[in-house]
Amino acid sequence: MAHDLYRRTPPGQHPPNRFDGYKSTASRSPTRPAVVLPQTLSEITGPLRRDERLGAQENDLTRQRMGEPLGERIVVHGRVVDEAGRPVPNALVEIWQCNAAGRYHHPGDQHDAPLDPNFYGGGRARADDNGAYRFVTIKPGAYPWGNHKNAWRPAHIHFSLFGPAFATRLITQMYFPNDPLLAYDPIYNSVPERARHRLQAAFDMDGTPAGVGAGLRIRHRAARSQRDTDGERAWLTA
Ligand SMILES: [Fe+2]
Repeated sequence: MAHDLYRRTPPGQHPPNRFDGYKSTASRSPTRPAVVLPQTLSEITGPLRRDERLGAQENDLTRQRMGEPLGERIVVHGRVVDEAGRPVPNALVEIWQCNAAGRYHHPGDQHDAPLDPNFYGGGRARADDNGAYRFVTIKPGAYPWGNHKNAWRPAHIHFSLFGPAFATRLITQMYFPNDPLLAYDPIYNSVPERARHRLQAAFDMDGTPAGVGAGLRIRHRAARSQRDTDGERAWLTA
């Protein structure tokens, strides 16, 4: 029997498929145990896109339009490393978020909050030789989402991390420290308690460039690992 190249997500790291407080998971989660299929060639080999050059402004969400967006400017940075702390160069890090008023630049978002013509809300960065990446953006606002009575999402930034293959992709969210809405958010609280703190960024004075904006360092960790001769390897940001 062939082994998968990439380790399956260990239990206790990711949220369950169904989490009763998160209403829509009831209709979209499987009702029977999953049939585990072997990882396919396309999952373990692509998309690499490691040679794709990113645009100069893709990691600065405040300079993608004609003018400056409204809101508190922040610098979000982290490193992509493996389980042994070794840097992973060239990882592709993508983010998307709402604007400072809590509204996405998307037709599906009809929240009664202003759009900002100078903020699109999407960016990409490539990890450097040390596994480091950096974004300049605007602190996103909270927004209502109708999950339950007076439900508000805490401020968050969506993340996609691509390792060397589709099977290593991690989709996650970054939250801000000391946000009182975290206690009420079923998406945040669907993450097992021992892993939850990893989703919160930490204020980082050393990562706060003068005159630019407050620095935030990401501490959350990916759970998807690669089996190789050196042992298991995980994608994480630290
Ligand atoms: Fe969101």
